Parts: sequence; structure tokens; C-alpha cells
Amino acid sequence: MAAFSFYFILFFGSSFVFQQTSSQVSVASGNPVSNCRAATSRAPGPPPGGRPGQRSPNCSVRSGQCMTTQCVEEGPYYKACSPLEQMGGQFLPQVCTNSARNDRLFINGTVRLVDASSPCGRPVRALLDIWHADAVGVYSNTSPASRDFTCRKRLITTSAGFFAYSTIMPGRYGTGRSEGYRATHVHVKVTPLDQNNNIIGPTLTTQQYFAHDLYAGAKDQCNECHSEDPTLVVYPQHSYDVKTYDGTWDILLPRMS
Ligand SMILES: *[C@@H]1O[C@H](CO)[C@@H](O)[C@H](O)[C@H]1NC(C)=O
Ligand SMILES: *[C@@H]1O[C@H](CO)[C@@H](O)[C@H](O)[C@H]1NC(C)=O
Repeated sequence: MAAFSFYFILFFGSSFVFQQTSSQVSVASGNPVSNCRAATSRAPGPPPGGRPGQRSPNCSVRSGQCMTTQCVEEGPYYKACSPLEQMGGQFLPQVCTNSARNDRLFINGTVRLVDASSPCGRPVRALLDIWHADAVGVYSNTSPASRDFTCRKRLITTSAGFFAYSTIMPGRYGTGRSEGYRATHVHVKVTPLDQNNNIIGPTLTTQQYFAHDLYAGAKDQCNECHSEDPTLVVYPQHSYDVKTYDGTWDILLPRMS
């Protein structure tokens, strides 16, 4: 009986959250940097991969010669208020601490925001909230009370929208839903900010993928995660050494409405 009510709550809790998050582009206001609020309790998120038969939204729309960046579900492993870093410091911000055992990943890019006269966007200062699995495919503790922010970081771009970070190549994990794995991915929420860190447009929640990943696209266990979408796929190189992947990922946010 106890087990039954647990699953009952889990099921209805997760369908509630899914409705809350089914639009991956949400508008908030205020200053997320000085007023970061961690949820005090958290219902479980939707199962990775969404609900069978549920169509995920398509946020990648044509804007002049460009496509806005696709949105992807947040998934169950997000945790708010991770350590904050601002671009421009002496060192490259690190999301996961590297070790000699792991493959390093260097990503850089520019965030742009579409406006009336620039369909391909103008560079915009933004907050990137990044989280991903460790080298063996495990996310750090997702309890809001936990201070474990391993492989989680918030990063403020330069005023020209530029960001760069170092991390490790995330490990694979399966959802248990079918054979295989999720496409290797890095989660990110991107919020455009003014110079005083006030939110000036919708937050895009998405996932960044890697070309040459066997599980990106048709083999992804999540078939609603857009892991084939050209706006989400990075083509990493080995410019430094064979254990270091480096690539560029530019983000185009839709026009504020
Ligand atoms: C999303 O819609 C655009 C057109 O607005 C289309 O070009 C693109 O292929 C669609 N993407 C997906 C994943 O359906
Ligand atoms: C961004 O990353 C790419 C690929 O690693 C590299 O070629 C480029 O120099 C970097 N750009 C900046 C401004 O750091």
C-alpha cells in the first residue's frame, strides 16, 4: 500500500511538472544573479524522453537566413543556483573538474538575440546555466538541499555574448526504457540579460550534442530530444590532443514578444 501511494504521487507529481515545463521557452523577470532561488521541494521531473506519444515543441524557427536554437526538455536532473562565474576572469571557467583519466571538452560560442532589424540576432549578454553527467554518466545529487554542484555551473557571458568553458566529455547513460543510450549531451538554460543582470527575454532550455555520436539522432533513447537538430550539434575537433575535444556552439534566441 505504501509502495502504491508512492508511485501514485510520483505519477501525478511528474505529469504536473511536465505540464509546467512542456513549453521549453519560459519568460521570467527580475535578477537571477542576485536573487537565485533554489526550490525548497521538488516533484520528480518527467521521465527522460518525455511521455510516449507526446510531441515535443519545436523552437527552431526560420529567422531570415538563420534558425533559432532548438529547445529540449529540462529532464529530471536540473538543480538551481549552481556556482556562478563571469567570463573575463584569469582562468577558463570549469564546469566539471578534469582529471587525467577523462576526456576534456572545451566549448565556446556566442549568444545572439533576434530583433526587428537583425533576423540572425545581435550578440547579447546572457546567463548560461550548465549541467551534465560525469564521466560515468551520473549526475551529482539533485536534491535542492544538497550543496553538491559537481558538473554544474552558471556562467555569465561577456557583454558581446561570448562564453567559453572547460569540462569533461559527459559519460553515457541509459534511461532503462529500451536498449542503448541517451545521446551524449550537455544541458543548458540560456537567459538574456542586460548590464545589470535583469532578464530581458525568454529562457531557452536545451541540450547540446556531438556530431559522430552513434546515439545522436535515430538511436537516441529519447526520441523527443532533437539530438539530430543542426542548431544543437557541435562538431568537435582535437586541436590540442586526442583526449581533448574542442568545439564551438552558437546560440540564437528568438525575438522577444
Ligand atoms: C522545426 O520547424 C522548422 C520550420 O519552422 C523546420 O525547418 C525544422 O525542421 C523543425 N524541426 C523539427 C525538429 O521538427
Ligand atoms: C573557440 O573555439 C574554437 C574551437 O576550439 C577555437 O578554434 C577558437 O579559437 C575559439 N575562439 C575563441 C575566441 O576563443
